[in-house]
Amino acid sequence: MKKLWGGRFEGKTDALVEQLGESVSFDARLAPWDIRGSIAHARMLGDQSIIPKSDAKKIIAGLKKIDIEIEKDAFTFRTDLEDVHMNIESALTERIGDAGKRLHTGRSRNDQIATDMRMWCRDQIDAVQSLLIDLQRALSTMADTHFQVILPGCTHLQHAQPVLLAHHLLAYVEMFHRDHQRFGELRKRVNVMPLGSAALAGTTYPINRKQVAAELDFDSLSVNSMDAVSDRDYLIEFCSNAALVMMHLSRFSEELILWSTQEYNYVVIGDAFTTGSSIMPQKKNPDVAELVRGKVGRVYGDLTALLTLMKGLPMTYNRDLQEDKEPVFDASDTVQLCLAVVAKMIPTIKVNAEAMLEATQEGFLEATDLADYLTAKGMPFRESHEVVGKMVLHCTKNKLRFTDLTLETFQSFSSLFKSDIQAILPPAHIVKERNTLGGTSPKRVRAALKKASKRLN
Ligand code: ARG
Repeated sequence: MKKLWGGRFEGKTDALVEQLGESVSFDARLAPWDIRGSIAHARMLGDQSIIPKSDAKKIIAGLKKIDIEIEKDAFTFRTDLEDVHMNIESALTERIGDAGKRLHTGRSRNDQIATDMRMWCRDQIDAVQSLLIDLQRALSTMADTHFQVILPGCTHLQHAQPVLLAHHLLAYVEMFHRDHQRFGELRKRVNVMPLGSAALAGTTYPINRKQVAAELDFDSLSVNSMDAVSDRDYLIEFCSNAALVMMHLSRFSEELILWSTQEYNYVVIGDAFTTGSSIMPQKKNPDVAELVRGKVGRVYGDLTALLTLMKGLPMTYNRDLQEDKEPVFDASDTVQLCLAVVAKMIPTIKVNAEAMLEATQEGFLEATDLADYLTAKGMPFRESHEVVGKMVLHCTKNKLRFTDLTLETFQSFSSLFKSDIQAILPPAHIVKERNTLGGTSPKRVRAALKKASKRLN
């Protein structure tokens, strides 16, 4: 097929160059946004009398038909037409004749693709944000359902202090809330219209950029045409935000994987979200969580690819920029799939509250509270720490827990210990005492859960 840019060429494009240069195999997905942008552009061209109004009408009607065809999968994209833009423009001219040849007046594929990508990105941000809300809801519901459940909180993966499971889950809600915020902040930077920058320097036609921006729901217009056609910062930010989401999902997945081991036995993930082994009949593997953890690597890779793509690009548009699409599409698809799957997996998780509580009996989780007890009775904290450290050593050597110790033994370490000491040892008491803002006491966690739920509605 004749190239839309073929005028100055005598020779044919090499077949390998067509293979290298085509982007329609991956940018065809931009068609709905490309068409929407072209419709707004054509309407403006007609309104400004840059092209006959009747031609603008034909263009708009033709584009709408093509849009439906594409949606119905009844449109054939041709790689010899390079990209989504030229596929649609060629199809338009084929259908409506000469009027179609007027569509590209005062426009370049450079500002066209920049506009398509920003509209696409905006919609992906909305989709990711809504998935982030669903996920936070699933986590909050799980926190609410298991509100009484206590498990060992860890540092260094070593038992540290007991915490509410709800507190633990709400930690993830905070992470995904920040992710939601980050995408919201990015959306403002994305929603700036580059169309009207043309190839790089603006155009001689009396275009009305404001009209086009209003039709396309852009908040504002790009102010420098050279920056507008070559800027891909927002795609890097998108991948960076997606990378953080994936990292958070991966941390959660890692915990689920650990928690569903025989060693922990804290949770059982539902059958629909686990898989079996082809050889070992007993297996029920947390593959979903593992795949989510594994997919982080691709999204980090996508971010790195974009950062590397952009470094060293001189002003303005360079064909390298065509390579922005596959990474950002991959990052977007991956993060959306993983968010959806994790949100759907959460309600299937069965919590083994007994195993969690039992685990709080190992590892002297009461140690800080014993030290605080002595400190409350006047002993300097550093000294209390030393005394309780000695108690831990004693218990370790004699295979005892603090709860096994008699009052006399307590008092052999410090006379400040009184008969009320046993009362401070239960995990529920320890949790209740951590009533500082942001702490794990049921009162604080209940308030945090309420706040999170309010934010989600
Ligand atoms: N397919 C191209 C891209 O994605 C569209 C812009 C092409 N512009 C050009 N001057 N060759 O970047």
